[in-house]
Amino acid sequence: MDESGEADREPSAHELYGDASEADYTRSLELQQMALDEIPEATSSNYRGKTNYAPYPMIYMDHADGAMLTDVDGNSYIDFHCGVSAIITGHRQEQQLEAVKQQLDKGSYFATTYELEYETARLVNDIIPGSDRTKFINTGTEAVMTALRLARAYTGKEKILKFEGMYHGHSDYALVNVHPDVGSLGTRRNPTKIPESTGVPRKTLETVEAVPWNDAQLLAEKLEREGDEIAAVITEAVMSNSGLVWPTAEYLDEIRRLTDEHDVLFILDEVVTGFRMGLQGAQGYFDIEPDLAVYGKAIANGYPCAALTGRAEVMDFIKSEPDKATFMGTFSGNPLVVAAANANLKQLDELGTTGYEDLYSKGTQLTEGLREILADSGEDVFIPEFAGFFCLHFTDGEAEPETWSNWRDIAPHVDDERYEQFASEMIGQGVFFPPKSGRINLMHAHSDEHIQSALEAAKQAVSNLG
Ligand SMILES: Cc1ncc(COP(=O)(O)O)c(C=O)c1O
Repeated sequence: MDESGEADREPSAHELYGDASEADYTRSLELQQMALDEIPEATSSNYRGKTNYAPYPMIYMDHADGAMLTDVDGNSYIDFHCGVSAIITGHRQEQQLEAVKQQLDKGSYFATTYELEYETARLVNDIIPGSDRTKFINTGTEAVMTALRLARAYTGKEKILKFEGMYHGHSDYALVNVHPDVGSLGTRRNPTKIPESTGVPRKTLETVEAVPWNDAQLLAEKLEREGDEIAAVITEAVMSNSGLVWPTAEYLDEIRRLTDEHDVLFILDEVVTGFRMGLQGAQGYFDIEPDLAVYGKAIANGYPCAALTGRAEVMDFIKSEPDKATFMGTFSGNPLVVAAANANLKQLDELGTTGYEDLYSKGTQLTEGLREILADSGEDVFIPEFAGFFCLHFTDGEAEPETWSNWRDIAPHVDDERYEQFASEMIGQGVFFPPKSGRINLMHAHSDEHIQSALEAAKQAVSNLG
């Protein structure tokens, strides 16, 4: 029991996902109680942890197949969380499963290179427009961390410029102005630096600049003033962790132009958009070529593989020589996850344009249906255009969401609690939407029937909301 007695309190019916739900969560509740004594937040990533789920219980999933998840109490769900955007083809995708099993039989780790590593790097380089070279690593966080160091080494400059509202993983350098309190942020031209966690060194904050996104003039002025100290500008092509914000016309081209002008590297974070916004990710979608790009999540359809890619001249600066940049990791590019990535990339390539068109058409069907259902019931919602994923914002009715262009526009107007109630009702209906406001994803395994079931569930969920 915790000091407040919170852990012993019986959750109300509503807190058990959905007023109308007859689902049983007994085993999930028992496991959560026991795990709290063993693991801070009862699980490894705080994102999946007790505080993030509260007041609802954490759900202990048991297995997954195709587009379906099943928990330890036997409840099943159509999965729209998709492994926080990591699942792109589907769970237990047949060819991928076979490839991983084959690799398991051959051995999980050799501490040498092996043929599949080269083959898989070549696959990535063939698919991604701005990729001449690829190196594998395990997580998006590590890929970003390494990209930042490489940029510093290559340019000989120290600072990194990122944007408010952007999450690039949980390294100290990336945890600046991720979801800052807008009231404490200071002016657009001179923002306060707010770390996302205690423990980020002040010295690290000194090397990171974080400015509002989608403002080319502001970026031009910043680079004019500080360009000779800035090694890289890092951005996503769409802001995916603060409610899908699209770039204004020409913004990405302007980032490319301005970074070139000031000898600053352009790092594109494709951890979410990669292999999700289409096979070529945001690079293909927007026809842009950064100097470096980082991938994770969907690259291996749920296995812990990530990649740093980019143009040859910059990537070849990675070398075991004193004046070059290092790149390490016992498990970086390990055979199991690289086999998973290899099979996944081949599968995605096979699905090709038609496969992604189909995914987009299902995404549009779902978003249009949700807009209609929620508007009919009098909710103020904003669902931005589908990008392999979408976000569902319950707004305060005063917002003009079509004009939102950065974190400062969004944060004051969204009702995350209303979203959480809606998501809990959906989960109660057997449709697994992310319990916290975030990306709602599609995978190739979703069928038209899954979309229709989700829309039926949404009708019930919104009527339960009251
Ligand atoms: C845009 C973006 N970059 C980087 C990361 C970090 O990836 P990982 O969680 O694999 O470390 C994430 C994770 O959600 C992300 O959304």
